[in-house]
Amino acid sequence: MSVFAHAEFDGHEQIVHAFDADTGLRAIIAVHNTARGPAVGGCRMWPYTDEAAALTALYPPPVPGFHRRHLAGGRVVLTLLFGPVEDMLASLSARADAWYLDGFAPRANPDMWTPALFQHMRRLSAPGARFATFTAAGDVRRGLAEAGFAVGKAPGFGRKRDCLRGELIAKPDPHPAASP
Ligand SMILES: C[S@@+](CC[C@H](N)C(=O)[O-])C[C@H]1O[C@@H](n2cnc3c(N)ncnc32)[C@H](O)[C@@H]1O
Repeated sequence: MSVFAHAEFDGHEQIVHAFDADTGLRAIIAVHNTARGPAVGGCRMWPYTDEAAALTALYPPPVPGFHRRHLAGGRVVLTLLFGPVEDMLASLSARADAWYLDGFAPRANPDMWTPALFQHMRRLSAPGARFATFTAAGDVRRGLAEAGFAVGKAPGFGRKRDCLRGELIAKPDPHPAASP
């Protein structure tokens, strides 16, 4: 059906046809009604080659802090936290269903794999939240277990023999009922 035959394409106050020779853009701007006064609106369009290119264009600048992006018409909300993991999680309020820990090898990067990280994960986890990580390092295994996660080994990827995965099994009630 042509746009001009559409039921909603009728009774406009003004219709402007536009063509931009440089870009090849053709547009029809249809103003329904300005009875309540003038208004200014706008829309942007850009043809991306694929979804990865569109996502890259949305990627925030390298500025520390929280960045939020709305995708798929608002059905997906992406929150990116740029900064040291401990600081970022300390200021986060969330209810995570799943974690993937991908922060360089613990031996080379001990600043990331701290007990504080695992305690934040516990605080921010929904009951039964799952985790996975490429590493099978003992400190990580123990830290996660101390934070209440059941930790299991699984076959690793590539050159890694093992990796870890598991789920939160203990999450104490933050407001326990007073005993009689
Ligand atoms: C192996 S890369 C993985 C990145 C991402 N998962 C990917 O696949 O592209 C490790 C990432 O962990 C980040 N990282 C390492 N230590 C960190 C820390 N203490 N706080 C926050 N991010 C950290 C690094 O900046 C790097 O982006």
